[in-house]
Amino acid sequence: MHLENTGHHGINSLFAKAHSADWDFERDVDWTMRIEPDDPLVALDWTAFGETPTFQALPERVRVHINRRGVGRILNILQLGESVAQDVCAKIALALREEDYRNHAVAQAMDEARHHLAYRRFLEKMEEEPEDIDPGTEGMFDTLLALEDPTQLIAFEQFFLESFAMTIFESLQSKATHPLLKRIITLITRDESRHMGFGVLYIEEWLRRQTFEDQVRFAQRWLPQILGTILDRPGPIMLSRVVQRMRESGIDNADELGARMLREQQEIDYAQLDSIVQAQRVPHLLKNARRVGIMKPEILEELGVSEHPLVVGTLRANLDS
Ligand SMILES: [Fe+2]
Ligand SMILES: [Fe+2]
Repeated sequence: MHLENTGHHGINSLFAKAHSADWDFERDVDWTMRIEPDDPLVALDWTAFGETPTFQALPERVRVHINRRGVGRILNILQLGESVAQDVCAKIALALREEDYRNHAVAQAMDEARHHLAYRRFLEKMEEEPEDIDPGTEGMFDTLLALEDPTQLIAFEQFFLESFAMTIFESLQSKATHPLLKRIITLITRDESRHMGFGVLYIEEWLRRQTFEDQVRFAQRWLPQILGTILDRPGPIMLSRVVQRMRESGIDNADELGARMLREQQEIDYAQLDSIVQAQRVPHLLKNARRVGIMKPEILEELGVSEHPLVVGTLRANLDS
């Protein structure tokens, strides 16, 4: 096999970093730490609806239960996502003939194997049955696993999903109160930012070599999905989980409280979205959409989203700060 290296400096250095920033699942994590059954694991406002006044007025044991169930649910989705990512990386490694792209995919596959182990071990230590994974999430993983084309795989996994997940990792990392959870999330987030970086560099490079029509086609596939994902706030599906957890903790008027939380949440969501519109913060998904080049004026015009408030805010923001 004569595998050509593309000479892409950024992608080659990501592979080098996979070695220098390597960590050992056993040696670098203290798995002897205990997880007490009543430990919320995160700050009590971490969960969906956790910032609403109605949630914050709930008794502490109820807020603990809701957060802990929420952490278990997210970690369960993440452990599944890690094994999906491992499959995706194996496919990418076999399909691509460029040495540096392949090297990255192989290194990432090992990272994902380690993440899967870490989440699984943490979930075992929690000693409780996690809630079911929603059909929407499962369907998304199925769609991803059905892809064969390496660029489509990278667009879906490293560019879209890992940019989306990065926001979850960062919120867990900043809100984790249990030292073992904080440790594994910190180590995993470090790896994930390399994976996301590969997605951005690869897609940026790939798009540069496409015709304008193909660039528009790619933007058409991903930009509406990215905008929809940012606009998708915790709604009735998430609320029904929180209501269920309130009932489990013996709250009688859980439905009524839930309805109130949903109303209060709208104001919080509005303020959060407004901070993007005002260019005060840019979520990874939008930042990376801009970085790969699907937010160029002529593409936005083709898609008819030049005036979209989230697009305008993202383009006004300083991405280096
Ligand atoms: Fe991972
Ligand atoms: Fe990853």
